[in-house]
Amino acid sequence: MMNELRIIRVKGRDILPFISDLAQLRIQVFREYPYLYDGDVAYEEHYLSTYSACEESVLVLVFDNKQIIGASTAIPLEFEVMVFKKPFIDHQISVKDVFYLGESVLLPKYRGKKIYKHFFHERETAAKEYGAKLTAFCAVKRAKDDIRRPKTYQELDSVWEHFGYKKHADLCAYFKWKEIDVNEASDKPMEFWLKNL
Ligand SMILES: CC(C)(COP(=O)(O)OP(=O)(O)OC[C@H]1O[C@@H](n2cnc3c(N)ncnc32)[C@H](O)[C@@H]1OP(=O)(O)O)[C@@H](O)C(=O)NCCC(=O)NCCS
Repeated sequence: MMNELRIIRVKGRDILPFISDLAQLRIQVFREYPYLYDGDVAYEEHYLSTYSACEESVLVLVFDNKQIIGASTAIPLEFEVMVFKKPFIDHQISVKDVFYLGESVLLPKYRGKKIYKHFFHERETAAKEYGAKLTAFCAVKRAKDDIRRPKTYQELDSVWEHFGYKKHADLCAYFKWKEIDVNEASDKPMEFWLKNL
């Protein structure tokens, strides 16, 4: 099956034709713990407009024949919204040196097949081409005893360390979304992970 998978990287306005596929994948995958995101198209349009409006944004896509089964995004941090820039500004890290990695999503049946390393490789290559000095992403911080955590859930921390990232818990952004089991959107703490290129 792996032979049929195809991975491509697109940039800037070439992302536009894939935005609705990306939104659909995000809504499906982030409904799971730890994100528990009750996705809707209006929120997606707003969130993804940052990427579609930027000439330097990056989208990595995985195709199984004609179907998009995974995607991963990145953008120079200077073009991201202020909530993601603020922790860096507060810590005197130059926003212009940072390439921000957005989400990585794979449909469940395509996980565990070593696709993730391509997401990092493609985005880190784009970051180097751009002239960034480091790549960074953030992940939602959940309580260890969160009752919504599935018994089978495996944290990704050791996987991110495997790919050369280090957690900087002092860099924290607060990002708003609505969870599946509540009525109102609320801010969630997001901890940053960094890698020097
Ligand atoms: C995140 C996601 C894209 C990763 O894809 P995946 O198929 O699960 O991961 P892969 O199997 O490709 O890669 C895992 C890597 O970590 C390594 N690994 C696995 N378990 C590990 C552990 N306990 N410690 C260290 N490394 C580990 C694997 O060997 C592999 O590395 P390699 O390719 O260099 O051998 C996928 O799980 C997903 O879509 N999850 C839901 C959405 C999500 O949480 N996204 C991330 C935040 S946006």
